[in-house]
Amino acid sequence: MIRYSANITIMMSAARKASKSILRDFGELEKLQVSIKGQNDFVTMADIKAQEIIHYELSRARDNYGFLMEESKNRNKIEDNEFTWIIDPIDGTLNFMNGIPYFAISIALTQKEKLISGVIYDPVHNDFYWAEDGVGAYLNDQRLRVTNKVNLDKSIIALGIPFLGRGNHKEHIKSQEAVMSKVAGLRRFGAASLDLAYVAAGRVDGFWEYGLSPWDVAAGIILVKEAGGLAIGINNKENPLLTGNIVAGNINIVRELQNILNS
Ligand code: IPD
Ligand code: CA
Repeated sequence: MIRYSANITIMMSAARKASKSILRDFGELEKLQVSIKGQNDFVTMADIKAQEIIHYELSRARDNYGFLMEESKNRNKIEDNEFTWIIDPIDGTLNFMNGIPYFAISIALTQKEKLISGVIYDPVHNDFYWAEDGVGAYLNDQRLRVTNKVNLDKSIIALGIPFLGRGNHKEHIKSQEAVMSKVAGLRRFGAASLDLAYVAAGRVDGFWEYGLSPWDVAAGIILVKEAGGLAIGINNKENPLLTGNIVAGNINIVRELQNILNS
């Protein structure tokens, strides 16, 4: 039987409380009030409510921790506090709004800028993906490992695709074309945190995306690392938590993807 640490217990409990509100709204999509944030980037009342619940629960449990949250104007920098929560209340908002059951709550914790814990909760399937520095990565009580494929040719790779107002479309087409001829399959699921959890769980062999935000990737980075994989910058020198350009998988898959994407 797994013993959850105090931090993981707090994070899971906050995610579970927020998920009740999220699932209620998911079941009543037609009643949601939806506003538009930027081009094609929707923020829903469901997002804001979920974030408020998570913020309330985490602040109640821990004093003086910073917050870096997607749906917030006053964001702390990771370096401002010894401990910082990094939160995406609904990652995969567009899926959520369209009734597609692929979205997640993502909560990570840093200490002195180092990721020490992460929880990604898929409320539709009641799946908790979680990891702690040095403890391993888990799906509920089951230990996770990335796949051990050596080459891309039998691999299934998840990716992010830029959209209206976001990213470099021409460059993306070139990268995708170069990767698609070398893999067994590509998948665009639509929630980066869950894509990284799927890498940790060995459901896909790898993942890459450019231009993500810290809350999209923070919990996923520690999950993939604790599952024995790499979740690093597409360019070897960059920190994906800072640049949002990320590639993940086992070391062979990551190196192959990096070679293609950087050439
Ligand atoms: C988005 C999702 C998506 C990714 C986008 C993100 P959101 O987050 O993670 O998979 O391609 O770049 O912005 O807006 O649904 O929280
Ligand atoms: Ca997101």
